[in-house]
Amino acid sequence: MEKTLLIIKPDAVERRLIGEIIQRMERKGLEVKALKMENITVEKAEKHYEIHKDKEFYNDLIEFITSGPIVLMVLEGKDCISIVRHMAGSTSPIDAIPGTIRGDFSTDTLKNIVHTSDSIETSSIEIKNFFKNIN
Ligand code: CMP
Repeated sequence: MEKTLLIIKPDAVERRLIGEIIQRMERKGLEVKALKMENITVEKAEKHYEIHKDKEFYNDLIEFITSGPIVLMVLEGKDCISIVRHMAGSTSPIDAIPGTIRGDFSTDTLKNIVHTSDSIETSSIEIKNFFKNIN
């Protein structure tokens, strides 16, 4: 069964949105297979966001994602990678449609509440980076 990584970012943890986000995933019918809260190291953040290292927002992104605790979870369900991406909404707060997580809770491109894997390849790499016992 397909799996994806969902990260609840420091802005969402600070704003007490952990329960709201997990509830949306469970109501949709996805299964939480693994779940933890962590203050990730700069090294882990850099590995996770390696593909963005040449972007102008990269330093701000690493600083933000390591600025406080995050909640990481592996979700499982049919087509869950695409489903969770749709539920998260567009990265741009202008394009993020109301009803999506970003559409409902964020006006900021950087501090955008959640991260979700964007393909089967990246989801398996991202899950391995953060969870040892899940395949
Ligand atoms: P995420 O889905 O975690 O993937 C990369 C992250 O970089 C993204 O969410 C945002 O937090 C951030 N990001 C992407 N584009 C921009 C941008 N144009 N300006 C600032 N931050 C960005």
